[in-house]
Amino acid sequence: MSAQKKLIMLPGPTNVSERVMRAMQKPIINHRGKDFASLLRGIQEKSKHIFQTEGEVVVLSSSGTGGMEAAVWNLIRPGDVAVVPVFGEFSQRLAETVELAGGTAVRVVSDFGSAPSFDDLEGAVMKQGKFKALYLVHNETSTGVALQYVQDAARIARDHGAFVVVDAISSLGGYSIPCDKWGVDVCVVGSQKCIAAPPGVALLSVSKRIEEFVKGSPPKTRYFDLARYLEYGTRGETPFTPALPIFYALDEALTELAEEGLATRVKRHLECAAALYDGVEKLGLKPVADSKIRSRTVVAVAYPEGTDDGEFRKKLDSDHGIVVAGGFGPFKGKVFRVGCMGLVTEDMVKRTLAAVSECI
Ligand SMILES: Cc1ncc(COP(=O)(O)O)c(C=O)c1O
Repeated sequence: MSAQKKLIMLPGPTNVSERVMRAMQKPIINHRGKDFASLLRGIQEKSKHIFQTEGEVVVLSSSGTGGMEAAVWNLIRPGDVAVVPVFGEFSQRLAETVELAGGTAVRVVSDFGSAPSFDDLEGAVMKQGKFKALYLVHNETSTGVALQYVQDAARIARDHGAFVVVDAISSLGGYSIPCDKWGVDVCVVGSQKCIAAPPGVALLSVSKRIEEFVKGSPPKTRYFDLARYLEYGTRGETPFTPALPIFYALDEALTELAEEGLATRVKRHLECAAALYDGVEKLGLKPVADSKIRSRTVVAVAYPEGTDDGEFRKKLDSDHGIVVAGGFGPFKGKVFRVGCMGLVTEDMVKRTLAAVSECI
């Protein structure tokens, strides 16, 4: 049975244009040939513009988690210390990944729905002295909270000799993160969120100092070995067989983004999120996050007492063809999350609010 087309208001994957979907029908080509080289180079050039970097871009055939695995396993060696603000599911996973790689994660913790303050982070960094890397989840998709101090955090980490890694999987494109200007060494984004391509590819920006480090220090992973990707990249190849149809779609989605312009896309996300928060509050509902730390790409909303999460989302889907997500961890059953990503428009926001109003 073929799936019906719905309005996908998930915090990823998100709606994808017909034009991008069609791009996946292009023929399979030799991934060791010149057509693939030009496809890969096109993706890299267009993504450098989004990362705002002169550094290299690695294109991984994996979901966002693979991108973060690469960002951890290539930098962390047994005994290394990494500072990790933990304020939701994805930052918790990140701290655990540091530990799986044999590192020590110094967690700067706050409750789900809030964020560690910059002062708390600075205190932890000062106390630590020298450390290997700062790992920041910019946008906690699990709670709808975004860190507001990425640039300052990068500055203090660099002052302590640390690499700066940002998980911008659910934010880049909806937010501007000028990686070179802010001193971000590795920034990771997923294809399926604000870039509005199908899921299946992670993009990583790689600074010059990371490039030097990984070339001299082989990691304990083959698939995610960044030095290998950088070396193959010089001849327009990936080390392993790429997810070709997704590469085609990603290339088209990046062209779409370039046509709109990064600044315009960022502004559209900002305006749609403002309309969503405003509408939700007018319905008498309460966003999870305080207004100062609210995410622009994921709007998490507390259910009124007695609302059944499963029933609500089922009705939204069956009666209105609109798909939103439930809560994570302590928020399971208590919160629903609306994605405000990629191709989101004011019209989609209005439709969603009207449907929420009827079903809640
Ligand atoms: C902030 C963040 N980090 C990591 C991930 C994991 O990405 P994926 O599900 O693409 O592996 C997600 C997914 O939603 C995310 O939002």
